[in-house]
Amino acid sequence: MSAVRIGPYTVHNGLILAPMAGVTDQPFRQLCRRLGAGLVVSEMVTSDMSLWNSRKSRLRMIHEGDPEPRSVQIAGGDAQMLAQAARANVELGAQIIDINMGCPAKKVCNKAAGSALLKDEALVEEILQAVVAAVDVPVTLKIRTGWDRDNKNGLTVAKIAEQAGISALAVHGRTRADLYTGEAEYDTIAAIKQAVSMPVFANGDIDSPEKARHVLHATGADGLLIGRAAQGRPWIFREIEHFMRTGQILPAPQLLEVERILLEHLAALHAFYGDVMGVRIARKHVGWYLATLPGAKEFRAHFNRLDDTEAQCANVREFFAERYKSLATGDGEGVAA
Ligand SMILES: Cc1cc2nc3c(=O)[nH]c(=O)nc-3n(C[C@H](O)[C@H](O)[C@H](O)COP(=O)(O)O)c2cc1C
Repeated sequence: MSAVRIGPYTVHNGLILAPMAGVTDQPFRQLCRRLGAGLVVSEMVTSDMSLWNSRKSRLRMIHEGDPEPRSVQIAGGDAQMLAQAARANVELGAQIIDINMGCPAKKVCNKAAGSALLKDEALVEEILQAVVAAVDVPVTLKIRTGWDRDNKNGLTVAKIAEQAGISALAVHGRTRADLYTGEAEYDTIAAIKQAVSMPVFANGDIDSPEKARHVLHATGADGLLIGRAAQGRPWIFREIEHFMRTGQILPAPQLLEVERILLEHLAALHAFYGDVMGVRIARKHVGWYLATLPGAKEFRAHFNRLDDTEAQCANVREFFAERYKSLATGDGEGVAA
């Protein structure tokens, strides 16, 4: 897989961490970048700047120490508000602006934002033109294949995007109506790739190096966006990169490395969010990391009742100590992923 240009920036391996609200916060973005993602995108930020003062929004903004190039996703349904939000984010340090027309979350769709916008192609055009005109940095767009299966207008939207000066397009192989059900399909992404000359990133259900290769071949896409498969497995990026480069499957990380990554991740979450919120947010990540390991279910039930940072770290250490013990006695599996 070769490098992909987005304006003046290069995604060296074509692999992007898909934006996920509530997941791709700064600690997770840093971790994924370190473990092989070529680009990471912030959680979406509302274009309603009157809401930016909430603690939640402030934490979602980009921060010093965010890996470069810093891509910030904005969501909203009003062209001028989105243009202003894009400008404000660039002033805050965004180097790429990504527009969310792919998210089916109700909260966003109630305001006719996210993938709900796909229904109104004139509005799509107005928004894209306004945002591109508002900033000097590359503007990228994330879409689904269409509104619903009878209205798969992803191709039309892609052409509108290219005309409007969008620098790269990510396409999730589901329609808005599909939500997350069924399987992503890649034919529409292939058709879009054929029809435009800007870089196209394929997205949806890519959860292994083999699947990554399959999707790249099936779509002809320039690169991939990986979302859920990176939860609890941030090293998936280096696994895909290695496989694409060498044709060999990288061995799953040793338990010791998983423990080190998880403890670093915990510490970063605690530091970023503060103790109370950090402890809460850490729970889901820990659950994802340990999901495939024996004893994880019982551990989680206990872990989710802990409410201080020290106890969380100590319990994770104990969990791994138990795993090493049972490995030494030949009782259990050692692989993490
Ligand atoms: C918890 C969660 C939050 C998400 N939040 C966003 C978001 O803020 N913006 C967006 O464009 N897509 C969002 N998505 C969609 C993902 O970026 C991605 O398109 C989708 O999960 C399909 O890719 P995957 O199969 O690799 O997960 C979210 C998905 C999940 C699971």
